[in-house]
Amino acid sequence: MLSEPRARGVARVLIDEPTLQGRIGELAAELDAEYGSDAPLMVGVLNGAVAFMTDLMRAMTIPLEIDFMAVSSYGASTRSSGVVRILKDLSRDIEGRRVLVVEDIVDSGLTLQYLLDVLQRRNPADVAVVALLKKDKADAVPVRVDRVGFPIPDEFVVGYGLDYAGRYRNLPYVAVLDPAAIGEG
Ligand code: PRP
Repeated sequence: MLSEPRARGVARVLIDEPTLQGRIGELAAELDAEYGSDAPLMVGVLNGAVAFMTDLMRAMTIPLEIDFMAVSSYGASTRSSGVVRILKDLSRDIEGRRVLVVEDIVDSGLTLQYLLDVLQRRNPADVAVVALLKKDKADAVPVRVDRVGFPIPDEFVVGYGLDYAGRYRNLPYVAVLDPAAIGEG
């Protein structure tokens, strides 16, 4: 039973809004307990993590700060080699800080692998990762993901921050697109 009307092009709602928000509440409580008064710096990875980041931070009650990074791969061929480019860097020094990377999805793991490498070189107190979604993929690179909202099958998903050709990020749920919608741009 769907809890929201489906957007055009959506074939199936994979994770509905109440389920998302319920799980985010659980993650927030765990993170509150983990960090206490340490005031972690939450680092959202643009653009996809925006929806998750804003809901997660508002569900947390401890003191915290936020910042954002944007990265881009050079395209399909270089993505497989893990070559990623920083489009927007953090606006502060993280030395000695507790850093919490907030990702919408871990797919191949290459983006996260690169980000963790970059962040670790800056001598933070520690770096942890919370990802809303993690694809169940045998060939993903082994990368540290401390907390996962939902493991999902290896399907192309949109909504709640995730896009297809720049669209669908504003859906309040995670969905699978109708194959007929893919290619329409
Ligand atoms: C997506 C997502 C992750 C990354 C995961 O970002 O937000 O950052 O891909 O994929 P990986 O594990 O295979 O590296 P994308 O590059 O699509 O940019 P976006 O967040 O702006 O949509």
